[in-house]
Order: sequence, then C-alpha cells, then structure tokens
Amino acid sequence: MKMTMTQKAIKIATTKIIGSSQRGTRGVDTTTTARSSSSMRGAIKGQQRWYDQRSSSSRKSSVSFKTRSASRRSPVVHATADDGYKVAVLGAAGGIGQSLSLLLKMNPMISDLALYDVGAIVKGVAVDLSHCNTASTVNGYCGNEELGQALKGCDLVIIPAGVPRKPGMTRDDLFSINAGIVRDLTQGVADHCPNAVVAIISNPVNSTVPIACEVMKKSGTFDKRKILGVTTLDIVRSDEFVSTLKGLDVNDVDVPVIGGHAGITILPLLSQTFPQTSFSKKETEDLTVRIQNAGTEVVEAKVGGGSATLSMAYAAARMGEAILRGLSGESDVYECSYVSSDIVPDMPYFATKCKFGKDGIEEVMPIGDITAYEQEWLDKLKPELKAQIDKGIAFVADAP
Ligand code: 2OP
Repeated sequence: MKMTMTQKAIKIATTKIIGSSQRGTRGVDTTTTARSSSSMRGAIKGQQRWYDQRSSSSRKSSVSFKTRSASRRSPVVHATADDGYKVAVLGAAGGIGQSLSLLLKMNPMISDLALYDVGAIVKGVAVDLSHCNTASTVNGYCGNEELGQALKGCDLVIIPAGVPRKPGMTRDDLFSINAGIVRDLTQGVADHCPNAVVAIISNPVNSTVPIACEVMKKSGTFDKRKILGVTTLDIVRSDEFVSTLKGLDVNDVDVPVIGGHAGITILPLLSQTFPQTSFSKKETEDLTVRIQNAGTEVVEAKVGGGSATLSMAYAAARMGEAILRGLSGESDVYECSYVSSDIVPDMPYFATKCKFGKDGIEEVMPIGDITAYEQEWLDKLKPELKAQIDKGIAFVADAP
C-alpha cells in the first residue's frame, strides 16, 4: 500500500529520532530483549562516548561562545524502567505541554514520563500518549494532591504551566497569574524531588526563574546548577532565520543568544554565528529586531489563540535532551539558557551558553567578544532585565 506524504514524513521522523531497532509495548515480556540489550545507563554512556568521539571535533571548535550548541543529534539509546530517566511535565495538558510530552515520549533516554496538570484532561492525554509504542511509561496526574506522586523520583522537571500571551500583551503582563503558578509548582519540586533539574518555560521567564530560585532558597534546597529558564527557542529561531537568509544548512548554524527571554532582553550575538558568517549592517539590525520580536510575530499570527506552542515544545525538547545527555555523563553538551550567574556584573540572572554535566549546569560560559552594536543592545537590556529579575525576587521575598 502506498504511504501518504504525512505517513512518510512521520516514518522518517520517527526513524531519525527513535532509531530503527525493534521496540514493543511496555509490560509485554517479549519486548524486554530489544530494550534491555542496550538499556543500561552504562550503555547509554558507552554510546554517548562513541557519539562524542565522532562529533566532538566539529562541535568543540574552540572555547567560550565559539563552542556550538550540542544537542542536535542524539545517540540512539533505549531506556528501561530501571535505568532511564524520569521526567515530569507540569502543565502537560496545555498547548506547549501536549506537544512537548509527545516529543519527550519519543526520547529513548526517558523511561518514565509524568504528565501533570490541573485540568482533568491530563489523564486522557497520558492515556493517549501511552499508546505510542516507544520505551517509556506515561502516567497522568491531576491537581495538587497528585503533584507529589508526579514529582517523586524525577531527574528532570519541565514547567510550561500558565497562561499564554494575547495580541498586545508583553510577557511581563503574564506575571500576575504565572508567578504564583511557578511558585507553587517549584515548592512541589522542593518538597518531592529537590535534586531534579528544573527547566522553566512559563513566562515571564526573566522573573519566573528568580521566583523558582527564591522558593528553593527558602526551602533550603537551592542549587544553582539545577534551575534554568528555557531560552532555546531564541536560538532555534536565530538558527532558522540566519540559515534561511544566508542559504546555509540549518543543521550547521548556531547563533548564541544571551540576556533574557523577552523583547529587547533577547540579544542574538550574530557576530559569533557558527560557522563564521558576515552580515551587512541592515541584515544585522533586521535580524536582531526580528529575533527579539519573533514570539510576538507568532502571537499576532494566532490572532488571540495564544503564543508559540509547537516551536516552543520543539525547543524545550531539545533543551531537555541536552540536560539528560549532561546528566548521563556526556562530556560536551552546551546550550544557551537563563541561569543564576555572575557573568555580567549586577545581573544575578542571565542567559549565556552553559555546559551541562552530571549535576546539571556545570559551567556558565563568558559572553566572549561582542561588537559595538551588540554592546549597545547589552547596555540597553540590562536595566529592563534587572527590573524583571527584581520583580521575581520581591514576589517571593515579600510574600507573607
Ligand atoms: C515565545 O518566545 C512563548 O515565550 C514564548 O514565543
């Protein structure tokens, strides 16, 4: 029977991400051979070492920001319930959450996927996803009383929960609703899986990451290596826009993006584009402004239906994979992310390229050389970003 275009595309994508070895349905004995043959974390590491050797020369071109982001191609490894990672998605029934959960279900390093939301549909989303014949189990958890169960034993918690923007809104306009949501969910992490890495998508990320860190500090469980804001979509967009403009292979392009994740706090360092690429003054200005406003471009195109969900899920899945590869001991994993940092004076949180390792964020890389144009934007973004950081810190500090 002939396959439709869509069927072909799905088959190709599935083969790329999951690999072509046999897989079966969890719980059925006959499937364990296929899984267990390459399932131990040791095997994961072994395959990753092999992968490192093959690819590190191209990725590790030099130090600092000239190091390319390293989460493009994962080695194909399969997890079992005993040795893969447990990942929770908090806000799994939403637009980002559902797509992200699907992508995570296709990640062979994950053995246990916990989908949490306040809406009862999350249980159905989990049942739906559990029918996909990939190696992880999926469970749905609904409401605060089931949050602990969702989080228990997690290695990675990804938080897209909250409300999205509508046309005319800034990310900061979401603060009044999303700040409390992130505070409460992070408290759950502090109570039930304080050693997990927490990746926050909920906007305004510039404030919600400081909120999460303050909650963890209050609980005595703060580890700055374990909390980050997902800014990967800014890098994804930059790589896409630059490769299209310059006719480059999108798989080769890597543009570091620093600062924060809102409007002018987003600063693409086009001068550090890998591979080295030259831009005219106009190209630099147009690209910089487009990347800063790309989220708004989606909000306006969706005419009131929300903000980026699919591209954000894609970006968060890439970030999640980078974190898990770091946790598994892979030695050469870099992604830009928004973290507790002392890289820029007076900016306690800042997005730069980070190295991911066994304990999460192993190293926050310096900004490197930037142009006068980029320096101008950096000077401009600092007061705005600082105000959003302070707002997040105050939200927890001033709470009764
Ligand atoms: C964006 O950049 C939703 O913040 C997200 O589109």
